[in-house]
Amino acid sequence: MTSRVFGLIRVVLVLGLLASCGGNGSDGGAVSSGSPDPGIAKTAVRYALPPMGWNSWNTFACNVNENVIKSVADTIAASGMAAAGYQYVTQDDCWVGGRDPATGQLFANPSTFPNGIKALAAYVHSKGLKFGLYTSGGTNTCAALAHGTRPPTYPKGVGAGSLGHESVDAATFASWGVDYIKLDYCGGNLSAFPAMRAGIAATGRPMYLSINPYSANQTLPTNFASDGTLYVPAYADTSRISQDITNTFASVTSIIDISAQDASWAIPGYFNDMDMLEVGRGMTPDQDTAHFAMWAMMSSPLNAGNDVRSQSASTLALLTNAGAISVSQDALALQAVPDAADSSATLQVWTKPLQASGTRAVAMLNRGSAAATATVNFANLALSGPVQVTNLVTGEVLSPALSTGSFSASVPATGVVLLKLAGTDPLAFKAPLALQNWIWASTQSGKIAAKVWPSQDALPVGATAAASVIVNGTSYRDGLAVNAPAQMVYRLGGNCSTFQSDIGLDAAAKGVGTVDFQVWADNVMLYDSGVITGSSPTKTVRVSLNGYQTLRLVVTGAQDGVANDVADWADPTLVCGS
Ligand code: GLA
Repeated sequence: MTSRVFGLIRVVLVLGLLASCGGNGSDGGAVSSGSPDPGIAKTAVRYALPPMGWNSWNTFACNVNENVIKSVADTIAASGMAAAGYQYVTQDDCWVGGRDPATGQLFANPSTFPNGIKALAAYVHSKGLKFGLYTSGGTNTCAALAHGTRPPTYPKGVGAGSLGHESVDAATFASWGVDYIKLDYCGGNLSAFPAMRAGIAATGRPMYLSINPYSANQTLPTNFASDGTLYVPAYADTSRISQDITNTFASVTSIIDISAQDASWAIPGYFNDMDMLEVGRGMTPDQDTAHFAMWAMMSSPLNAGNDVRSQSASTLALLTNAGAISVSQDALALQAVPDAADSSATLQVWTKPLQASGTRAVAMLNRGSAAATATVNFANLALSGPVQVTNLVTGEVLSPALSTGSFSASVPATGVVLLKLAGTDPLAFKAPLALQNWIWASTQSGKIAAKVWPSQDALPVGATAAASVIVNGTSYRDGLAVNAPAQMVYRLGGNCSTFQSDIGLDAAAKGVGTVDFQVWADNVMLYDSGVITGSSPTKTVRVSLNGYQTLRLVVTGAQDGVANDVADWADPTLVCGS
């Protein structure tokens, strides 16, 4: 049965249900009726999409100077990379000459940056590009910390980190015209990250903040969602989620697996940084394509790391591939998740809904050493036909109107096939949301438990059955229980006027979890509950959805890690035109 027919049957069921019951549950469950909670002040999105640019580290490390950066900027401006979206030219480690004891300000190494950073930034700006600069949240830069083990040695970064100097360094960078700060960690302190955000705010200059809590040799957890100290997206625009990438396919796939654990964190204004690209740095063309396509699918920043001045035509073509970049820069800004039903350990199908209704980017990723045929079943994506399938890298339409319910393709060894599917999404309708199919979901536990009433109604595709949805002792008729951080996205199609739900920690949280509920529509945050604990009263969210195309339900782990963070959307309900 197609999900469209399935959806129609459910509409009929629900209309019948509402007619016979007047919308009230007869199983003794609660129905939302409280006055709406206004929520806390909503946070403005600083940078809605993953940044694109270039970074010096992967190719140049400490063999860098101002002429390298200038000639790279020349190439990015002239080669078509800028036109394709590459904007930031970032000088990574090894620019610093020390900290002036009189002014307290950092200064550039006079032998390699004789004209100083301000002049360099002005040169990059003169090319129509933006300028990025490295510093560290410790007392030394990372290259200085690795002094002696990372050739060439770099003594000038000793004692030249930003820890304790965040405000003055942000002010210095602003006065130089910096647009993007890469804030490393190496031997540092997590306090440097929010302190730098405060320093940036005090300057009044917009500067992108890219943090790295995972510098080499640090012992932080590999999944920062369980770091448990601070809510990273509150102050960082992107955060590294892994240790340093290398130019091997094993490194690429290991970072994909780490980032996949944090898919529910990606949101307009915050993305998981999978590290600078290794495209054009020694992997095979198929591996490079898989690497680039997956970074785009997972909404990672796209910072080229190759020597663009001498790159091959095929590397340039890949880095500027319009289809792959359209996936990275799609306005819905979701991170791809695996389609578990169509994936195996070596042959995986990844999916990312795009802004236009009915469209999905799909990456068939072959991690194995032999070519293999992958299949995507549209029903597993809650997508119904007819479906048009386009190869996003080549632009070739592979199937104009496929109604068979699946598409198969041969995927090269350690390679990818990147597709766009255009079919029909399930549109939300006037009914309990717990009955309805989302188009994308990700949670810390990998599961969303739905309780629907009456019990014979089908669960959404991919949901497990919740035995109960209990908030502050009240049992609800319908609900969605998620382990934070979690996100679910629904298509509204501009047809719905109101979303309403009670919210709170589930009884399974045993009164000790800490979460934050947010409601977003079309990349606009409509509601933010602030921190909800086990002792918070149940709140009712009610937001107006007039004209929006998508509804995005977000639960973050707030500020204290994710233990016990089982959160309920209790009796979530949509009012739609039909
Ligand atoms: C760390 C970072 C790298 C790079 C180097 C510079 O290893 O993870 O991306 O910035 O420091 O020393």
